[in-house]
Amino acid sequence: MQAIKLMIFGVVVLLLAGVGVASLLLRGAFSTDMGDQPSIKPQERPLEPPVGSVPRANWEKLISREEAGKALRNPVRPTLTSLENGKRLYGIYCELCHGENGKGGGPVAAKFVPPPDITTSFFRQRPDGFIYGTIRSGGPLMPAQGEALSVKDRWDIVNYLRNLQEGGAG
Ligand code: HEC
Repeated sequence: MQAIKLMIFGVVVLLLAGVGVASLLLRGAFSTDMGDQPSIKPQERPLEPPVGSVPRANWEKLISREEAGKALRNPVRPTLTSLENGKRLYGIYCELCHGENGKGGGPVAAKFVPPPDITTSFFRQRPDGFIYGTIRSGGPLMPAQGEALSVKDRWDIVNYLRNLQEGGAG
């Protein structure tokens, strides 16, 4: 009886040792470390699309602000929904520098470059497309806000800014 117990014990020990050795040997072959994979990590930029692939949505040709001012027509009517969305997004992405009413003085303005009052006639005369291009790609100093916003969102902000410039909203 004792001998049989010993034998079973011996077999179990050998099996466990075998599994241990095998897992050590196969470590490289079957990695269980999911951290090592080709996905996009936090703080990493998204991968470029494969060469030759064709985007099916949200595709935009990158043009300068000046070109955008000439070529783009605002496709979004300044409806209440558009203005409300524009106001919401302005509060998130622009107010920190440009202030609540577009006249400057947001909390970041003092730490960054104080932006000009963008409700003056000089900025009113800018075409919608130019402002759209500024939001998307930034200005000489202003950082681009484009990556965070969809095309529709950017036009909604343009509409809201127009409203601010007319003193229509605050
Ligand atoms: C980090 C601060 C900062 C943020 C955020 C920011 N801006 Fe600006 N913006 C500036 C500065 C500084 C200028 C003036 C220098 C320049 O044009 O680069 C400016 C210029 C502008 C102009 C004038 C461009 C021209 O020459 O006609 C417009 C319009 C404008 N911003 C709109 C926006 C809108 C809309 C948002 C939000 C989507 C935004 N900005 C977010 C700092 C900022």
